[in-house]
Amino acid sequence: MHGRFIALEGGEGAGKSTQAKLLVDALEARGLKVQLTREPGGTPGAEAIRKLLLDPPGEGWGPQAEALLFAAARADHVARRIRPALERGEWVISDRFVDSSRAYQGSAGALGDTAITTLHEIGSGGLRPDLTILLQADDEQVAARLAARDGDNSDAIGSRNSAYHRAVAHAFRRYAEEDPKGFAVIDAGGDPETVHARIMDTLAPILEG
Ligand code: TMP
Repeated sequence: MHGRFIALEGGEGAGKSTQAKLLVDALEARGLKVQLTREPGGTPGAEAIRKLLLDPPGEGWGPQAEALLFAAARADHVARRIRPALERGEWVISDRFVDSSRAYQGSAGALGDTAITTLHEIGSGGLRPDLTILLQADDEQVAARLAARDGDNSDAIGSRNSAYHRAVAHAFRRYAEEDPKGFAVIDAGGDPETVHARIMDTLAPILEG
């Protein structure tokens, strides 16, 4: 038996973490065994790399080193946590996955999609989620959620300028358009329960299948 792998993606403050938790609760209530995880992170090694990425020592990472660190964290996460869980027949819900590297390092950071997908192939055998849920929020919602989440204490990547984050949002939309079967685009507007209901509707075919 093989489990299901669902990734939640989107820009900063779209409500991914809240939705990941609500989704795990709903799946567990159906009797499924579910792992809630996140990127960068999800294993002790990848969580250590997360700290290096979000609060970098010294002058910070260049674009290439940053992309390699994300790929290294993901390789450990996939090998030690995601693949074993899927092989046990469990569901894995990840708050971000490789499309964040494509959008942030590849597109907004200008490394290009080929470099990121090549790193993913080397690091993680090119593993793709069964479904990537893209949470799309408008600018006002994002600003309000970010203010409530961490005030002005944004991390090294979250604090990049608005042009960078616009490029990230644009890239996510493009990936979803290019792969309509692999993505579900969900309107992140409204209260968390409303957004959660949209996600459960989208997952119905996978849950019944
Ligand atoms: P988050 O836990 O708030 O989502 O923070 C993770 C930050 O790292 C966020 O700014 C997005 C960024 N990120 C990348 O730039 N590339 C990646 O591959 C991943 C997983 C996250």
